[in-house]
Amino acid sequence: MRSVHHLGYGSAHGKIILSGEHAVVHGYPAVAIPFTSVEIEAFVSTSDNLTATIDSAYFTGSLDQAPEMMDHLTSMIDYFFAQENLEKEPLQIKISSTIPIERGMGSSAAVATALSNALIRFYDLSDENLEKYVEHSEKMAHGNPSGIDALVIRTNQAVKFQKNKIPESFGLHLPGFLIIGDTGLKGSTSEAVRAVGDALKTDPQKTHKTLEKIGQITENIYQSIEEEDISEMGEWMTQNHKLLKLLGVSHDSLDQLVRTALETGALGAKMTGGGRGGCMIALADQLDLAKKIEKALLDRGAEKTWIMPLGGF
Ligand code: MEV
Repeated sequence: MRSVHHLGYGSAHGKIILSGEHAVVHGYPAVAIPFTSVEIEAFVSTSDNLTATIDSAYFTGSLDQAPEMMDHLTSMIDYFFAQENLEKEPLQIKISSTIPIERGMGSSAAVATALSNALIRFYDLSDENLEKYVEHSEKMAHGNPSGIDALVIRTNQAVKFQKNKIPESFGLHLPGFLIIGDTGLKGSTSEAVRAVGDALKTDPQKTHKTLEKIGQITENIYQSIEEEDISEMGEWMTQNHKLLKLLGVSHDSLDQLVRTALETGALGAKMTGGGRGGCMIALADQLDLAKKIEKALLDRGAEKTWIMPLGGF
């Protein structure tokens, strides 16, 4: 009999893609960083009920009656019990989160990571299968995930990622600030990823060319990070946004916030994550400018904003 803790706890931060979203699904590099201002916490304990229960902002009740949008989690829990050869038992799961859902901040990978960790700790297991559980959940949530979200969130490190290559984690020592603006609109990463996949079939030449250019921009952004040249980095971010727009994964509200940030003096701005809603990011070299951009974004209808220093992690 395995030892079981009274309470299993797991937590995970969000993530921000600095460059290369969508192109990364098709084999090009992307650069992403952890976003520690937002967090998901998961708690697992024994339930007094006959069935497993879940308590979250989206749904509270019996796990077998959870809505379809939670299928990735319910399926991951089943997968966990099967992989660990454990008899399924009625657990009480509580999830609390400050990561906005479906806004390109990695909420699906974060909830899967936090919950897997909580289950692993509840049953006092090693975390050797953690990656598999998150991958299982991400495949259900996104269809064709590149794996970058899961990696950044699991390791909590800035990373340059490319499929089938060893990821490079790096430190950020940039003299600047990232301003994150949430449009307040839900984006659907799976839909956006599918749309790019469709475009590759209907217009392969143009789509491949766009993805290739995004890949090159990511290399340039990575180089400007290494050289600590944020003006250069900002310019490439704005170019990246134009290509994501061309790819059809942006949204009017994202374009508007990107324009607002640039008009207010940002060194660069782009959407981040799956797109079609969700969040955008802008770059500033001074805190005063970052605050000015933040105010302009809020005035233009951003639902929420954050300022993140880019030095020292
Ligand atoms: C989503 O955060 C990033 C995408 O590139 C999808 C993926 O890489 O799995 C849009």
